[in-house]
This record gives sequence, C-alpha cells and structure tokens, in this order.
Amino acid sequence: MRTKILVTGGAGYIGSHAVVELQQAGYQPVIVDNFSNSEESALAGIESILGAKVPTYRIDCADAEALRGVFRAEPDVAGVIHFAAYKAVGESVQKPLAYFQNNVGSLLALLAVMPEFGVESLAFSSSCTVYGIPDALPVTEATPTKPASSPYGRTKQMCEDIVHDVAAAPGNRVHTILLRYFNPIGAHESAKIGELPLGVPNNLVPFITQTAAGLREKLTIFGNDYDTPDGTNIRDYIHVVDLAKAHVTAVRRLLERKASDVVETFNVGTGHGNTVLEVVQTFERVSGQKLNYDIGPRRAGDVPAIYADATKAEQVLGFKTETSLADSLASSWKWQQTLKQM
Ligand code: UFG
Repeated sequence: MRTKILVTGGAGYIGSHAVVELQQAGYQPVIVDNFSNSEESALAGIESILGAKVPTYRIDCADAEALRGVFRAEPDVAGVIHFAAYKAVGESVQKPLAYFQNNVGSLLALLAVMPEFGVESLAFSSSCTVYGIPDALPVTEATPTKPASSPYGRTKQMCEDIVHDVAAAPGNRVHTILLRYFNPIGAHESAKIGELPLGVPNNLVPFITQTAAGLREKLTIFGNDYDTPDGTNIRDYIHVVDLAKAHVTAVRRLLERKASDVVETFNVGTGHGNTVLEVVQTFERVSGQKLNYDIGPRRAGDVPAIYADATKAEQVLGFKTETSLADSLASSWKWQQTLKQM
C-alpha cells in the first residue's frame, strides 16, 4: 500500500506540483484545500498528468474540527506537507488579521490535531523572507533572521517559532522540516498545471509572461539603482518542480526518522542569483518575444539582493536543483500559452 501524505494547499501552485511528484515517487497524496486562492482546474490538471484522481477534501485548514474529519476519513496518513497559506506581501499589509488567522491559525490547528491521530511528520513551507535584508550573501540556514518587512513575512517567522516551541515541549512527537523557499517559477513540463495568479500578478515571472502574451501593456522593473551589477534586484529563481521534489525528499527523511533534530531547516534554492534584467533577457531569448518594459521606482519592501547557499540541502537531503533559469522560463511561457487556450 502507498504511504499517504496529506497535502494542505494541494491545489495551489507549489502544492499541485508536489502532489504530482509525491504520487510519482510512490506516495499517495491526499489534498486538503479550501480553494480560496486556487482553482478546481488544478485538480483536472493533476488527474490528467497522473491518470488518476487524487482524494480531495474541501475544508479550511484553520478549522481543527474539519481537519479531524479528514484524519478520521483517512486513518493511515503518515505525514503532512503544509502549503496552505496566503502569500501576497502587499495584500498582507492591507489585511494583516486575515494573514495571521489563516497562516498561523492553520499551522496551530494542524499541530494540535496531528498528534491526536498519531501523525508525527510535518514539512512546512517557509520562505527566504525570514532573512529580511541579509548582511552577507549567500544566506545559509545559520544566517540570522531579521525583522519581517510585512505581516506575510511575520507569519512565516511566527510559524517557524511556533514549530520550535512546540517541538521543545515535553511529550512532543511531531518532527518538522522547515523549507525556506527562494523564488519559485515555472510550470510542469506537461503545461497541465502551473501558476494561476488571481488578477494582476504581483510576481515577476507571471507579469513577464502576461505582458508577452498581450494581457498587460508593459512590465515595470522596480528600480535599477541598487548596488548590483546592473542595478536591478537579485533573486534565486527555482523551478517549481525542483522545489516540489525537495518536499518529497524531506518527507522521506521524516518518515524514515533520519532527521538529526526534531526540527530541521533547509534553504531550497538554486544557489545562484539573477538580476531582474537577466530574467527579462533570458525570457526574451527562450521565448523569442521582445518584452515591452520600462524602469520604474523601487518597490517598497524589496530586498536588494538575496540568494541561497544550497549546500545544506545538497549534503543532508541529497537535493540539488536540475532546471536552469532558461528552461524554467521556457516552461512558464509554455504554460502561459496554454492558459490562453483554456
Ligand atoms: N519585480 C519587478 N516588476 C514586477 C514584479 C517584480 O521588477 O512587476 C521585481 C521585484 O522588484 C523583485 C523581483 O522582481 O526584485 C522578484 O519579485 P517577486 O514579486 O516575483 O518576488 P519577491 O522576491 O518580491 O517575493 C518572493 C515571494 C514572497 C516572499 C519573498 C521573499 O513571492 O512570497 O520572495 O523575498 F516573501
């Protein structure tokens, strides 16, 4: 029998790719999603890739009683990957309470309910946002965290703290791996699942592909006066399928009880930084599209430069990214063109 893994937010961007990778690695994913920021169409995409339906529960993860219902219905769940969360930095400034309720509330509910059902393995979606503006690059897991620049960032820091405090409590049996993602981009090679931004995208790559597709007039690059080689921000762009595979590796480590500590933290990035202009130029090259863009003012809250030291994930998890920036952007473009036809 396949080992069951509950995937909260399993219909979302990263979650849907993780569901596919889990199934293909021999696990049985079970999706929990309230579809507040995801689409039913992701389920059809997953089904089409896998040739099988994935059990799905439409509940709010912050609702502990509803979660209990899922664990009762799926008594042999062995572990949880917790993706379900709000993720828009700007929106979190407008609606801080919603972010704390959802992002912190869902983790609290899971941590309370999992032990009731003997489920002791948790992989948690954290973010490189916890590093704030780092003093030195690349950032390692030991790089000190900085005060968050948004309520969204604060929810990720709070969630990490909660995980550590719960782990240290007497009698705790839940082992957690915190995965600090850098910037996920791209889509599944089948172009059957990918990112589905609601409204005007906040993130760079969907904005680029929508501009190239004629849905947006032009991309504005937020500042070219940073202290970087071409003046634009540096980020570590990781292909979403690589990121999904990191979760499979983390789950395996947790289930095999190989973790050296009750909470382990890993950066999940490529280890390389690229400027915004490099991303734009690489996109133009792989898509053959000339992108309409201009340079605008800096965006409030942007970190000038951040990229991962990916050594720990490689040495401890045996995880290494496989997809280049060019191939990642090509997959984003293929996905955008598929969306046009949907
Ligand atoms: N950018 C533009 N124009 C745009 C959109 C983005 O120039 O229209 C630039 C940004 O200034 C930044 C880079 O592209 O330099 C990447 O921006 P994104 O919004 O795609 O990603 P961020 O790095 O700002 O945010 C990501 C995640 C957050 C997370 C954060 C941590 O989306 O969830 O990393 O640094 F909190």
